[in-house]
Amino acid sequence: MALVNGSRVILARNGIRALSTTSISNQEAQPKPARVKTFEVYRWNPEDGKKPHMQQYKINLNECGPMILDALIKIKNEMDQTLTFRRSCREGICGSCAMNIGGTNTLACISKIDTNTSKSTKIYPLPHMYVLRDLIPDMNNFYEQYRSIQPWLQRKNEATEQKGKAQYLQSVEDRTKLDGLYECILCACCSTSCPSYWWNGDKYLGPAVLMQAYRWIIDSRDESTQQRLDKMKDKFSVYRCHTIMNCTKTCPKGLNPGRAIAEVKKLLSGLATKPAPKMETAALHK
Ligand code: SF4
Ligand code: SF4
Ligand code: FES
Repeated sequence: MALVNGSRVILARNGIRALSTTSISNQEAQPKPARVKTFEVYRWNPEDGKKPHMQQYKINLNECGPMILDALIKIKNEMDQTLTFRRSCREGICGSCAMNIGGTNTLACISKIDTNTSKSTKIYPLPHMYVLRDLIPDMNNFYEQYRSIQPWLQRKNEATEQKGKAQYLQSVEDRTKLDGLYECILCACCSTSCPSYWWNGDKYLGPAVLMQAYRWIIDSRDESTQQRLDKMKDKFSVYRCHTIMNCTKTCPKGLNPGRAIAEVKKLLSGLATKPAPKMETAALHK
């Protein structure tokens, strides 16, 4: 009896499943109305002699992934192979797809397409950078500035320490000081949103690089604090920041470079000093 009852239940469940499958396939048979969205993309090819211009592409959003990068890849794959842009990870990790989308510096791969088809979406390269082609800015100055802050751990007695053989110790409390700093992916969205960086990008380090400078300055294991600060004691490297905070507003990773710059200024002016490490960092090297 139990078996019979069980079979009935199974039959009844299968019946429901069969019914719902039929209704889904009926729905699928109806073609969805096209949702055609216009994308206006900055184009410039240094080799064709033409001036920069905006080019329109129309995409049916029903046939495209949800992100701006999906739209750009669709354009490149199916409509115009000459369109040039950088991308790699497609998940907000590598920082290479940074561009100006709808007026905001952000990452194309984690930027949702605005599905309002009555408005076009405009896509430009990061502002106030030299453009190599289409959506690709020249990042050389930015990377040179990053190199200039020497973004690696520096010790006073490296020769006597067993470099690579033992850890440098750091307390949990000291480690938390790096949170909100180490996550930066160097996409340059913040620096290229900063008016001070637009006008003095050759001498002012800009928010991304300054936040990384602070990341090493505040690291309890790093012993080049004073040298790092001394290198920034001029009118331009740090003090061109006027706390406008565009940088923090635009960061696609939710970081706060404006705050990091304020901390650097406090250290430079003597309003704050770097606290001593909570653990003896070289204890394992003895
Ligand atoms: S806070 Fe400083 S770095 Fe950030 S946008 Fe303003 S001026 Fe630029
Ligand atoms: S702070 Fe944010 S916007 Fe600036 S480079 Fe890092 S991840 Fe990009
Ligand atoms: S493709 Fe890597 S951050 Fe967008």
